[in-house]
Amino acid sequence: MSLIAKNIETDTPIKSKIVDQKIALNKIPNVGKASIRVIKKLVDDIEKESGEKFIRMEMGIPGLPPTQIGVKAEIEALENGCAALYPDIHGIPPLKTEIKKFVKNFLNADVDERGCIPTVGSMLGGFATFMTINRIDPKKDTTLFIDPGFPVHKQQMRVLGLKWESFDVYDYRGDKLREKLESYFSKGNISSVLYSNPNNPSWICFTEKELQIIGELATKYGVIILEDLAYFGMDFRNDISKPGQAPFQPSATKYTDNYILFISSSKAFSYAGQRIGMLVMSDKVFEIQSEHLLKYYVYDTVGMAMIYGSIYSLSSGTAHSAQYALTAILKAANNGEFNFLDEVKEYGEKAKIMKKMFLDNGFEIVYDMDEDHPIADGFYFTVSYPGLSGNELISEFMYYGISAISLSTTGSERFEGIRACTSLIQRSQLPDLEYRLKKFNEHHPIS
Ligand SMILES: Cc1ncc(COP(=O)(O)O)c(C=O)c1O
Repeated sequence: MSLIAKNIETDTPIKSKIVDQKIALNKIPNVGKASIRVIKKLVDDIEKESGEKFIRMEMGIPGLPPTQIGVKAEIEALENGCAALYPDIHGIPPLKTEIKKFVKNFLNADVDERGCIPTVGSMLGGFATFMTINRIDPKKDTTLFIDPGFPVHKQQMRVLGLKWESFDVYDYRGDKLREKLESYFSKGNISSVLYSNPNNPSWICFTEKELQIIGELATKYGVIILEDLAYFGMDFRNDISKPGQAPFQPSATKYTDNYILFISSSKAFSYAGQRIGMLVMSDKVFEIQSEHLLKYYVYDTVGMAMIYGSIYSLSSGTAHSAQYALTAILKAANNGEFNFLDEVKEYGEKAKIMKKMFLDNGFEIVYDMDEDHPIADGFYFTVSYPGLSGNELISEFMYYGISAISLSTTGSERFEGIRACTSLIQRSQLPDLEYRLKKFNEHHPIS
């Protein structure tokens, strides 16, 4: 792979010779199709050889310090000896109480504490859920993904040998979503439907109308909604940070009782390293009873099979000290003493500046609207450049010291685009980004 733009080899921000040499050494046939981890390794190598720092937009790592309330509580719990003891599989009691309150305060949903379960990141909550709910009814053995989405969920399905279907929501916003979802649900094989909201990678957020459609159809067809809230409250257009006061985190839970929520601590609380998330199951889903579960579990209800079958088998609960950390964080948020969204607003502010730089230099936002409103500024955004595919753009960006991932890896059908992540860029790097995008635009004239 070499530069598409011609006769400018000596004028790119990163020497093209170094980029070509590292691509060859890493034996990467097509940089655009490489996975996030391969791109990371390539960029590490180029940075080392060239001495130039990349604008790193490939990985969704929180770029902020961890919530200190959590760190303090965790240290204290460790000093008190919690490391020696197995934590309860279903979660320590004070954490379950705070999760229940958090869901009521910030999402306005009522759930019983028994359905509030801490997991090893929301990733493990997803894995345990796919495993359990696709065994309730042999006819309903398929999960539907509303894409674009987080590629690891599909990897989990593959590892489990489970079936899934998916569609790109781009052309099915608003009322059009009803017919599209109904075309899947009415076939009778769909057990569950997963979407993230705000969405990774596109940062689209479903409107109230769309959430209502999803909720109503879930009830009508007995489909379980898997609402992935990895970016809880981070649609900064609505300030949901006041406990117990509207507005709340938008959610299909307002329109159906058939739901499981995955709430991650990684981004909202910058707590990714401790691998703790929350699985929140509605009372109705907890009580679903099926004799088919007995083939795999000693319990015939979904809640018991999930906790004492799937989660027990996978991880036997999650780290004791991290449960104390999350308890303290949620307690402070529930009491109105800690505004967790104040800390992460920085992502939205950087996104606003970065998007303008891209737009000023010939780029276009790919997923740009939530029905009739422009999308919010947040953790991710998607861009394209006229005349280049997403894969070509990723490859070409290497010479300009910019790294990202192609939308083609996310189930998106907008193959011309890439996902940019705002979290790791420091404010001090923004002038560099602007300079590099200007150079890129100069070298790739738009006809
Ligand atoms: C949409 C989505 N779901 C789930 C996760 C995983 O969250 P956790 O770190 O809690 O496992 C992420 C992390 O990037 C994500 O973007």
